[in-house]
Amino acid sequence: MNNPNALRLAGKTAIVTGAASGFGAGIARKFVAEGAKVWIVDIDATRGEIMAQALSMPFARLDICDWAAVRNFAGLMEHVDILVNNAGVGHTPAAAEDVEADTFDRVANVNMRGIYHLCRAFIPKMKAARKGAIVNIASTAGVRPRGGLTWYNASKGWVITATKSLAAELAPFNIRVNAINPVAGDTPLLTTFMGGDSEELRAKFLGTIPLGRFCSPEDVGGAACYLASDEAAMVTGVAIEVDGGRVL
Ligand SMILES: NC(=O)c1ccc[n+]([C@@H]2O[C@H](COP(=O)([O-])OP(=O)(O)OC[C@H]3O[C@@H](n4cnc5c(N)ncnc54)[C@H](O)[C@@H]3O)[C@@H](O)[C@H]2O)c1
Repeated sequence: MNNPNALRLAGKTAIVTGAASGFGAGIARKFVAEGAKVWIVDIDATRGEIMAQALSMPFARLDICDWAAVRNFAGLMEHVDILVNNAGVGHTPAAAEDVEADTFDRVANVNMRGIYHLCRAFIPKMKAARKGAIVNIASTAGVRPRGGLTWYNASKGWVITATKSLAAELAPFNIRVNAINPVAGDTPLLTTFMGGDSEELRAKFLGTIPLGRFCSPEDVGGAACYLASDEAAMVTGVAIEVDGGRVL
C-alpha cells in the first residue's frame, strides 16, 4: 500500500520557466512543498534570485527565446523528470490589424518558440530515461477567446495543439504531455490583458467567471502538481481548465 504521508513529487527534479512571478511562482512553491527539487528559470534575475532564495532552490537566468542559452542550460543538467513551460507574455487589447509586428513577434517568440526550445533541449533527456512529464501553461484564451487579444489567444491555441501532438508522439517513450488552461489571474499580466486596471475592468472580467474570482497561483500549482505526479500516470494529451467555469 502507498504511504499516505509520502510527498507527491519526492525525488523528482523539475524545471519551471517563468517561476519568478505569478503562476510560475505558485507552481514552484507547490512542487517544493511536495518534495521536488525545482530549478527556478526566468529572464528576470532580480525576482528569480529572490524566489530561489526563498525556496532554497537553484536559479537559472535564461531567456527561453535564446536557443544557444537554453541548449547550454540543458547541457548542465543530468536528469529532469518534469518540465513546466509556464513563461509567457501578452499584449494589450487592440484590433488584430493594429498590433505591431514587434509585439506579434514577442508574443510568438516567448509563447511558442520558447516552448519549442525547451522541448528541443529536454525531450532527448526524457527519451533516454524513458520517462518524463511536461506541463504547458496555455489559457482559456486558447479555447474561449476574447476579442482584442487575437494574437495572444492564437498563441495559446498553438500551445494546446502542440501539447496534444507531443502527447501522441512521446507516449511510446513513457513521456506524458499535458496543458493547463487558467482563466484570468491576478498576476502582473492581468493589467496587460485588461488594458489597464480599474474596478470596472475587474468586474467585467469577473462577470465572465462563474465561480466569481480570479485564478490564483495556488490554483495553477495544484493542477500542475497533479499532472506532473505519478497520480496522473494515465493522463496525457489533456488541457485542463482551471477557470472557475469560464468555458462552460
Ligand atoms: N495571468 C493571467 O490572467 C493568465 C491567464 C491564463 C494563462 N496565463 C499564462 O500563464 C503563464 C504565466 O503568466 P503569469 O500571469 O504568471 O505572468 P507573470 O508576468 O506574472 O509571469 C511570467 C514570468 O515569465 C517570465 N518571462 C517572460 N519572458 C520570458 C523569457 N523570454 N524567458 C524566461 N522567462 C520569461 C517573466 O519574467 C515572469 O517572471 C503565461 O504563459 C500566461 O500566458 C496567464
